[in-house]
Amino acid sequence: MTEKWWQNEIFYQIYPASFKDANNDGIGDLKGIIEKLPTLSALGITTIWLSPIYCSPMCDNGYDISDYENIEPKFGTMADFNHLVASAKKLDIKIIMDLVINHTSDQHLWFKKALKNPNSPYRDYYIFKQGLNGEAPNNWRSNFGKGSSWTKVSGEDNVFYHHVFSKHQPDLNWENPRMRQEIYNMINRWLARGVAGFRVDAITFIKKDQDFASIEPDGVDGLGKVKRKAENRPEIEKFLNELNEKTFEQSDAVTIGEASGVSYDELGQFIGEKGYFSMIFDFHYADIDVYSGSEWYRKTKWTVKELRDEIYHSQLSIQKVGWAANFLENHDQPRSINKYIKDVNYQGSYGAKTLGILFFFLRGCPFIYQGQEIGMVNAARTQISDFNDVSSHDNYERAIEEGFTEKEALKFVNDRSRDNGRVPFHWNNDRNHGFNRDHKPWLAFSTQDKLVNVKDERKNVKSVWYFYKRMIEIRKNPTYSADLISGDFKVIESNENVIAYGRGEKIQIYVNLSSKVVETAIPHGNILLNTYEDYTNNTLFPYQGILIEVDKNE
Ligand code: GLC
Ligand code: CA
Repeated sequence: MTEKWWQNEIFYQIYPASFKDANNDGIGDLKGIIEKLPTLSALGITTIWLSPIYCSPMCDNGYDISDYENIEPKFGTMADFNHLVASAKKLDIKIIMDLVINHTSDQHLWFKKALKNPNSPYRDYYIFKQGLNGEAPNNWRSNFGKGSSWTKVSGEDNVFYHHVFSKHQPDLNWENPRMRQEIYNMINRWLARGVAGFRVDAITFIKKDQDFASIEPDGVDGLGKVKRKAENRPEIEKFLNELNEKTFEQSDAVTIGEASGVSYDELGQFIGEKGYFSMIFDFHYADIDVYSGSEWYRKTKWTVKELRDEIYHSQLSIQKVGWAANFLENHDQPRSINKYIKDVNYQGSYGAKTLGILFFFLRGCPFIYQGQEIGMVNAARTQISDFNDVSSHDNYERAIEEGFTEKEALKFVNDRSRDNGRVPFHWNNDRNHGFNRDHKPWLAFSTQDKLVNVKDERKNVKSVWYFYKRMIEIRKNPTYSADLISGDFKVIESNENVIAYGRGEKIQIYVNLSSKVVETAIPHGNILLNTYEDYTNNTLFPYQGILIEVDKNE
C-alpha cells in the first residue's frame, strides 16, 4: 500500500467529561484538556481523538448531538476549541473529532421540526413509519440490549420513529439526499476549522433494509437484534462512497470507522486503496469475553489460544488490503486489565505492561484510551442505580428478563459496563484524584481502585506510564520504525499460552498471557522491552512480555 501520513500517528482517545475538570463543576472540559496537553506531549502521542464535544443533552454522553455546529457549553466554547487546536499544534499534536451521523439527539432542531409538523421536509430526515395496530412496525430490538428500536410519536395515531440506539437518538434517514448533503457540508466546515480527521461513529448502521420486515426472535422478549437488518446491509456502499468523495477524500483527512459487522473478505471496500476509510476498528477480539457485544450476560470461556488466533486472523486479513486501528480499550469497553488478565495477582502493572506490548506493536496505528497508560482498572459498583451508562441499565434489565438473578445481572454489568472506562481520570493523590478541586464528579470514582495516578507514575521510571512512553519512543525511533511501522506482520508459532509475532526483518514480540512459567524457543537478540527486570533465555515468567531486536545471524 502507498505510504500515508497517518500511518505514523499514535492516537490517544479523550473522553472529555472524564478527563480534567478545569472549572470545578464536576464535568471535564476543553480548558482541562488544554491544561494537560504538555503531559500528553511528554508521553509522546501525536493525535488526539476527542469523543463528542458538540451540544448535547447527554443522554448518551455526547453521542446524542443536538447541534453539530456548536460546542456543548458544559465543555466550553468555540473559542476554547480553537485554542485547543492551536495549542495542540504548537506541540505537534493533531486533533480528530468524533463524527456521529447515524443519528442525532431527539433535541436536534431537525427532529423537533419533524415532530412538530408531519408535512415539514425534516420529517424525511428521519425514519417515521406507521405502526401495526398501535404496535411497533416490526420486532427489531435496539442495540443497547433491551426494548424495541421504535418509539411511538406522542400525539399522533399509530406513528413510530426508528432508533438503533436509545429512543433519544433518532436515526437519520440516509435515503434522503438532502439530509446527506447537509451532513457533508457540516463535515467540511469542521475540516475547515483545522481538524485532521474523524473517528466515525456507528457508521455501518446508516443503511436499513427497506422492507422493514420482522425477523426470527432471538430472546424471550420476542424481538431480534436490529443489527440483523441495519448493520452493514447491502447497498450501504452507495452512501459510504459518496460520504468519502464529498468530504474526507478532498482534504486528505484521516478517518477511522467504527464499523462493526464488516467481514474480513469485505475489508478491501472499507480500507483498501480506494476504501471508504483510512482504517476501521476490528471488534472481533475486543468482544472475546462475550458472545455478543450488546448482550453482556452471554459470557464465553475464552482461552489464550483463541485470543491469539483472533489477533492473527485480524492482522493477516487487514495486512492484505490496508491498515489497522489497534486498541485495547475505549469508552465502550471495560478496562483491559480486567478483561484480558485472568489471574487477579497480575491485574496491576505487570498485566498493564504485558497487554501494552501485545497490542502496541501490531501492524497499524496504536490507539491509547485515557487511563490505559497508567493501568486504571474497572470500578466495581454495588447497585444498579450507581451506573450512569444507558446500556448498563438496559443490559441489567435484559439479563433479569432472561432469567438471571439480580446479583448475577449486577456482576455482568460490573464486568462489562461502559462506566468502567468513564471514571474520572486520576491525575494525582489529592482530593478527587486531581480531576478537579472538590466538586462531586458527574460519575463516582471507584472505591476499589489501586489509586494509580499520573503524578506518581511520572516519578517512577518503572511505572506503566514510563513503559508506554518507552513503547512510543521505540516505535518512533528511525532505527526500528521501518520494521515497526511499515514492516510486515508475521505469525510466530509458540506455546499455547503465548502470543508471539514478528514485525519486519528483525523485531519479534513474545507475550505470556498466563500465570504459568513457559519454556519456548526465543531467538537471541537485543531485548528492547521487558515487563520484568530480567530475562532468562527461552523462558517467559507469568505474564511476561518482551520485544526483541533479533541478532542478524539468528
Ligand atoms: C458508538 C459509540 C457509543 C455510542 C453509540 C451510539 O458505538 O462508541 O458510545 O453509545 O455509538 O452513538
Ligand atoms: Ca468543567
